Amino acid sequence: MTSPDSKPHFPPRPTALAQELLRPMIQPGDLVIDATAGNGHDTVFLAECVGPTGRVLAFDIQEAALASAKSRVGAAGWVEFFHESHIQIASHAAAESASVVMFNLGYLPGEHHYLTTEAADTLTALKIAATRLKPGGILSVICYPGHPAGAVEAIAVETWMSAQASQGWRVARYGTIGNRRPAPVLLLAAKV
Ligand SMILES: C[S@@+](CC[C@H](N)C(=O)[O-])C[C@H]1O[C@@H](n2cnc3c(N)ncnc32)[C@H](O)[C@@H]1O
Repeated sequence: MTSPDSKPHFPPRPTALAQELLRPMIQPGDLVIDATAGNGHDTVFLAECVGPTGRVLAFDIQEAALASAKSRVGAAGWVEFFHESHIQIASHAAAESASVVMFNLGYLPGEHHYLTTEAADTLTALKIAATRLKPGGILSVICYPGHPAGAVEAIAVETWMSAQASQGWRVARYGTIGNRRPAPVLLLAAKV
């Protein structure tokens, strides 16, 4: 959460905020899932939280992302990478086994912007991820409504999250206001 001049970035970026809020919810030995590995920042965070007795499953559809994430993770043998869409999560994690599933939507910074998450698959993956979470487990989703496809996706995710809230999940939404373009939004949902 620190900027180059070493002052804390305010307000905290959604990526940093997600990690701060999730850290106390993860125990050593847990199974956790990074549904969008990208450059591996969240994968490393999750690997540190669960430690060598835990398991991290990390998914991405881009080889370049997985290569980047693997090099960032280094020798943590408790991280398993899958060059697969996150709609395949159920093939690798048992029902009600995970304490946290993280999604950071959008595209890989610096890479092809057409290789982005898409609303339909994201919704499918969220529904599947919900079945893999333990009761009390947390789903974390960062949406980027500042571009047209991201705006459609963000509405779809928020609509689904609201439906979960009406079924007893505890759901929260974090983001800055008053920006020229819609700012990224962090959504957190705790399973009933
Ligand atoms: C914003 S980046 C993730 C950043 C990453 N969490 C990090 O800490 O560096 C979004 C990633 O989602 C990936 N992605 C897009 N569609 C996907 C899908 N269906 N399944 C898994 N990953 C996907 C992209 O390839 C991209 O690397």
